[in-house]
Amino acid sequence: MATGTQTSTTKKSKSSATKAKTASKSASSSKSTAKKTSTTPKSDPATRLLMQDHRAVEKLFKQYEKAKEKPAEKQAIFQQIYMELAVHTQIEEEIFYPASRPHLDEEDIVNEAEVEHASAKDLMAQLQKMKPEDPYYDAKVTVLKEMIEHHVEEEEKEYFPECRKSDMDLKAVGEQLKARKEELMAKMGGSALQ
Ligand SMILES: [Fe+2]
Ligand SMILES: [Fe+2]
Repeated sequence: MATGTQTSTTKKSKSSATKAKTASKSASSSKSTAKKTSTTPKSDPATRLLMQDHRAVEKLFKQYEKAKEKPAEKQAIFQQIYMELAVHTQIEEEIFYPASRPHLDEEDIVNEAEVEHASAKDLMAQLQKMKPEDPYYDAKVTVLKEMIEHHVEEEEKEYFPECRKSDMDLKAVGEQLKARKEELMAKMGGSALQ
């Protein structure tokens, strides 16, 4: 006979479990859409332009994924990725990074960004010399994509917000970025697509 009368202690602790559940529900929604909605403040034309570039490159990497079985298409898309990234890294290195450096608490963030650019450019140069049929072509594009994703996340979540908090003249820098980008795009347009 079961003598063990289980005295179920009536714990009347109504936890806020339901609250936590709803919070985690929204957090688990897709990461890519969260990225896209990141703020591009109108008062800050500098990071706004740079973030538009980031979105354009993300789109190109997605197109590359879809073209996996078509070597000619892959190469054409990579050429576009190359041009976008070459211009973007150049305007950041020539204008944005030096202009922001004196306004940041720690310069590590700029130094790391520069090192990441160098690694990405090295991979881009290797790809530029390869044929899309090369068995390592896709692997290199994938690694480049992952490097860029990591870099973009750091810029948008750490670097750019620091700049916005500072007294950096983002309007003037934005104008410089825009002018230089147009100049470089015009220059590269012909040669990059040959
Ligand atoms: Fe960037
Ligand atoms: Fe960058």
